[in-house]
Amino acid sequence: MFKAKISALGCYTPPGVLTNQDLEKMVDTNNQWIVERTGIVERHIAPPEMATSDMAVEAARAALDQRGIDASELDAIIVCTVTPDMLFPATACLVQDRLGAKRAWGFDLVAACSGFIYGLTTAAHLVSMGSHKKVLLIGADTMSRIIDYTDRSTCILFGDGAGAVLIEPTVEGETGFIDFHNLVDGSGGDYLKQPAGGSRMPATQETVEKRLHFVKQDGAQVFKYATRKMFESCRDLLARNNLTVADVGAFIPHQANRRIITAAAERLGISCDKVIIDIDRYGNTTAATIPLATRDALLCGKLKKGDLVVFAAVGAGYTVGANLWRWEM
Ligand code: COA
Repeated sequence: MFKAKISALGCYTPPGVLTNQDLEKMVDTNNQWIVERTGIVERHIAPPEMATSDMAVEAARAALDQRGIDASELDAIIVCTVTPDMLFPATACLVQDRLGAKRAWGFDLVAACSGFIYGLTTAAHLVSMGSHKKVLLIGADTMSRIIDYTDRSTCILFGDGAGAVLIEPTVEGETGFIDFHNLVDGSGGDYLKQPAGGSRMPATQETVEKRLHFVKQDGAQVFKYATRKMFESCRDLLARNNLTVADVGAFIPHQANRRIITAAAERLGISCDKVIIDIDRYGNTTAATIPLATRDALLCGKLKKGDLVVFAAVGAGYTVGANLWRWEM
């Protein structure tokens, strides 16, 4: 078995920003409520001509440039998203073509807010098998395309963005990927979904009129589940590796709601200076929150080479994921 490490990171957020003050003019809400209940101040929104693959390609190019390699060296491309350019072909195919990654195969991974965590686990295993030397993992979502901007309970939460990492074999002395604790609880499927547009409820005039192509959620149910499972998955992951929160250098959680993150972190007992929160500037970008938060952690010096890092997320499905890595960049 080989070991896998993250060897490069690139991110992209579109330049347009939607502030809480902008939302005050669109729905019955106010800045104070949004900040107190979610921690979000603003989010980036893609212009109409920009699709998920466009942001994914920007993030991918930034990662490849950082590593100084050409896309033709890639063995596989995984795009984690719930907002593909279209249902098929997969966004991974569009990205492969735009990058000129001639040798790479690839696929889309649909696990909503846990997408990037599942992608990390999958890419690490491809590299661990020895069959893949360079896997490009991208989390990208254009949530603004599936959000109902007349629904105040959801439109305040989401933003657009993309992040990409390169996963490669470690060299001597490096650890990289250590362990994962992922699970699915499909009984929670009804609490957070995009009801129409699939084979169960194909697009009709009625589905459009009833706004069923937008995100629907029971926010309170999702909140309770996310808080509990983010804590439990991290606790169990650390315990089975004989580690405690004192060993962790950085906790990089999915950014859905500041209160979910702080509640999970408090139950874990991890000191708040190790908890990475950037939801104020990006909102919930679904599969992109983990790479965006990782970039922020690096920029502000909270994540350094050799640190033990826990990535964690809960999302639609329900999907739950926690990954343990030694940071080697
Ligand atoms: N502005 C002002 N008031 C709002 C509002 C908004 N944007 N959205 C909801 N409210 C109101 C509600 O209508 C309700 O009013 P009522 O008591 O008169 O009925 C009140 O605020 C409280 O609503 P509630 O839903 O209990 O608020 P909350 O504190 O649970 O926060 C969420 C709502 C959506 C922010 C929160 O439930 C949440 O973040 N859930 C998880 C969502 C999530 O993470 N989704 C993605 C998962 S990866």
